[in-house]
Order: sequence, then C-alpha cells, then structure tokens
Amino acid sequence: MRRLDGKTALITGAARGIGLAFARAYVAEGARVAIADVNIGAAERASAGLGPAAVAIRMDVTEQASIEAAVAAADSALGGIDILINNAALFTAAPIAEITRADYDRIFAVNVAGALFTLQAVARGMIARGRGGKIINMASQAGRRGEALVAVYCASKAAVISLTQSAGLDLIRYGINVNAIAPGVVDGEHWDGVDAFFAKYEGRAPGQKKREVGAAVPFGRMGRAEDLTGMAVFLATAEADYIVAQTYNVDGGNWMS
Ligand SMILES: NC(=O)c1ccc[n+]([C@@H]2O[C@H](COP(=O)([O-])OP(=O)(O)OC[C@H]3O[C@@H](n4cnc5c(N)ncnc54)[C@H](O)[C@@H]3O)[C@@H](O)[C@H]2O)c1
Repeated sequence: MRRLDGKTALITGAARGIGLAFARAYVAEGARVAIADVNIGAAERASAGLGPAAVAIRMDVTEQASIEAAVAAADSALGGIDILINNAALFTAAPIAEITRADYDRIFAVNVAGALFTLQAVARGMIARGRGGKIINMASQAGRRGEALVAVYCASKAAVISLTQSAGLDLIRYGINVNAIAPGVVDGEHWDGVDAFFAKYEGRAPGQKKREVGAAVPFGRMGRAEDLTGMAVFLATAEADYIVAQTYNVDGGNWMS
C-alpha cells in the first residue's frame, strides 16, 4: 500500500522545478496527477515522462476562466480532486525606487490572486463532494521576512502565508486541510533567474549569489526540489488530518518559527 493510493492531485506550475518533483513523488506514492501549467508544451513533456498516472492541463492561474476550465478538466480526467498544490509562482526583484505597478500586478496576479482563486475553485468541488481534501500552498522563507530588492515577491509570499491561515480556518469545517510549505533556496531554473537579478543589481558575477546563499544554509547547501517532497506527501495524507492553517519551513535550517 502506497501512501497516496487512490488519491488524485492537481498541481499548478508542475511543468518543471519543485512542482514537477511533487508530481513525480505523488505518482510514485500511487496518486494520479494533473500537471497544470501555462506552458502546456513543457507540461505535456513532463506528463509523458510520468506515464499514464499523469495528465497535462493548460492553466493560466491569472485568468478566472482558465482556472475554472482547468479545475473542471482535472475533475473529469481524475474523477474529482483530493489534493491541490498551489505551486505556480513568479519571482521579481528591484530596488523600491524602481518597482513598477505593472510588475507588482503581474506578480500578485500569479502568486496571490492565482493561488486564492485556484484554492477557491478546488475547494468548491471538495465541499460539493463532501469527502474533504488537502490543499498545500507554496509559500517561501521570503514570506517570513522582507528583503532589500525583493519587496514585491516577499509581500506576495507573506500574503500566501496569511491566506493559508484564513482558508485553513474557514475550510477545516468541511474536512479540508489547508497548509503551506516555505522552502528556503532551492536550486533550479527559478533560482537561475534570482541569481541574474542579483548579478544585475549588486554587480555580482553570475552564479556568485547562488554560491553565497548555498554556503549560508545551516545544512550546508542549497535545497533540491526532492528535499521538499517528503513534506508535500505527508501533508496530503491522513497522518496530517489534525494539522490546520500551518506553514512549514523546509529550508535546511534557514528560518525558525
Ligand atoms: N526555488 C526556490 O528557491 C523557491 C524558494 C521558495 C519558494 N519557492 C516557491 O516554490 C514554488 C515552485 O518554485 P520553482 O522553483 O519550482 O519555480 P519555477 O519557476 O521553476 O516553476 C514555476 C512554474 O510555474 C509556472 N507558471 C508561471 N506562471 C504561471 C501561470 N500564470 N499559470 C500557471 N502556471 C504558471 C511556470 O511555467 C513554471 O512551470 C513557487 O511557488 C515558488 O515561489 C521556490
């Protein structure tokens, strides 16, 4: 008996990175998974790599119609959604004096509104089915503390932690657990982009910021996507039924709360 046998999951932004590692881990634990991403080509390649337990769905979490269509498609492909991982997100960085309203709107549309309205659409289905469910939001250590140059992304992830608390308290009456994972620094294409921002604004050589943040992690290195999968599986199982509205740091010791 695997830990997620018979379960179904919708994972947003799962075409690459952490979301793809979650999809792989869920399939290995017996779940059937919808890989939902705005990049449908990458989602289809990811899904093909995972075999018949995975299905690719085009989803832009900034568009309400796309959210509803993707949740309906996942529902019908999987026969209901037991688990949602709200994982899609964008990163940005700029000094306060250079932040633009357009960039703020772009980041909050994905990281905050996208997460909230995807959670809402999936929760409505879970409530209607009456079988409860598990919702996992991807927060960040960036949501625990502001950072010079990273105001907008940090604020968006603080909002994810707050939404996790409010939704967790609201939805537990339906047997829906809402919790979050706060990673620290996880190597991959996302952090290649972060590194490039710091190279631009702090005059660092490419790769230098990554080396510095990796060396500063108490565990001794940057995270890997696979470092997060244990928590993502655990929070989706019945072992986590009594866990409500929490955000867990999985970051090699960077943050304590
Ligand atoms: N990598 C890190 O160091 C780190 C640290 C803390 C938190 N996180 C969080 O973990 C999650 C995954 O991070 P990652 O490193 O795998 O990121 P990533 O950039 O590698 O992957 C993000 C995925 O989201 C998709 N996406 C972007 N906009 C979308 C939209 N509008 N609709 C649907 N999909 C969209 C992208 O196509 C991509 O496949 C994010 O929420 C991120 O904020 C990452």
